[in-house]
Amino acid sequence: MGKVIAVANQKGGVGKTTTSVNLAASLAATEHCTLMIDMDPQANGSSGLGIDPRTVPISVYEVLAGVTPLEETIQHTAMPFLDLVPSHINLVGAEIEMIDMPEREQVLKKAIKMARHHYDFVVIDCPPSLGLLTLNALTASDSVVIPVQAEYFALEGLGQLLNTIKIVRRHLNPDLEIEGVLMTMYDPRLRLATQVASEVRRYFGDKVFNTIVHRNVRVAEAPSFGKPVLLYDVVSTGAKNYMALAREVIRNSVRFLSENAAAEAPPAPEPAGSGNGHTTALHAAPKSAPQPTPQSSPPPTAPPDAVSAEAGHVLVPSRVNESLAEPDNHANMLDPPGLTDPRTHYEPV
Ligand SMILES: Nc1ncnc2c1ncn2[C@@H]1O[C@H](COP(=O)(O)OP(=O)(O)OP(=O)(O)O)[C@@H](O)[C@H]1O
Ligand SMILES: [Mg+2]
Repeated sequence: MGKVIAVANQKGGVGKTTTSVNLAASLAATEHCTLMIDMDPQANGSSGLGIDPRTVPISVYEVLAGVTPLEETIQHTAMPFLDLVPSHINLVGAEIEMIDMPEREQVLKKAIKMARHHYDFVVIDCPPSLGLLTLNALTASDSVVIPVQAEYFALEGLGQLLNTIKIVRRHLNPDLEIEGVLMTMYDPRLRLATQVASEVRRYFGDKVFNTIVHRNVRVAEAPSFGKPVLLYDVVSTGAKNYMALAREVIRNSVRFLSENAAAEAPPAPEPAGSGNGHTTALHAAPKSAPQPTPQSSPPPTAPPDAVSAEAGHVLVPSRVNESLAEPDNHANMLDPPGLTDPRTHYEPV
């Protein structure tokens, strides 16, 4: 079973999509079967991998609407080990349309249940909000990469994101880890950038990736050619940075992947008439789109409609509205002293 990694930060333009596309491509370049799921209605991640979101017949929107199994939306990319679940502008309405759905935060988690057996890594590009799309991504993920742009106010709003992660852990996905905080668009010539980098390290300690992604024009140009930077200019600084990031993620994931491979039971026999069983395929070449997933669902891990987020404010019903000051197992990671910085706004929940 592959590792699912969300790339999230509700702040716009910090490098989420660039990181999703190039991390996914770099993982694929190391022959790890990788699926990128584009959860942003802007669909920049889809076009950045050479798939025109205006022409895809079905997208993650239909998956979230519950009308199409995720497997049927998978597109192959120019890279042999990299597949994509594209986005579509329709996704912009999905949060409203899902509002009355039971267990609406868990739709993606259920949808990728079978597909993740076919990949080593699933990378999810989140939109710049903490709404239902990001909640679905965090609920479906084993870990989250948080890109932080090396600029003024880099840490602004991170308290909100960390609070959301905490709430997701408590009610929906207790195993969600922080994979790492990634410094992006770093310009070593600017003293400000080095100051921000050391501030981020002071707050997040060893949760900051050793890899720093430098500001690099090739990274910015590559999406207009529908390519990850690795295919656009393999010797560029950007390509090297994202390969280094992929190696770090792989190193961090060795245990996860081997434990899950070991725990992977042989596929249960399919119910009669529902087609062939899936084979687990770690380290195998990507397959053509697998057969539709049986529609059985696991028992819910949280009360229905436990958590919702809207417009950057985390809204929780009263029965789960607990004090964020309450200690939890991850408190040291989630409440770094620096995040009481006045520029970081904790929203009431
Ligand atoms: N390392 C880099 N060097 C140069 N430009 C970069 C780099 N990383 C990202 N960019 C550029 O910065 C802009 C924002 O990046 P990106 O779209 O990845 O951010 P985002 O967080 O996904 O944005 P949004 O919040 O709108 O989804 C893009 O134009 C992208 O090409
Ligand atoms: Mg984006």
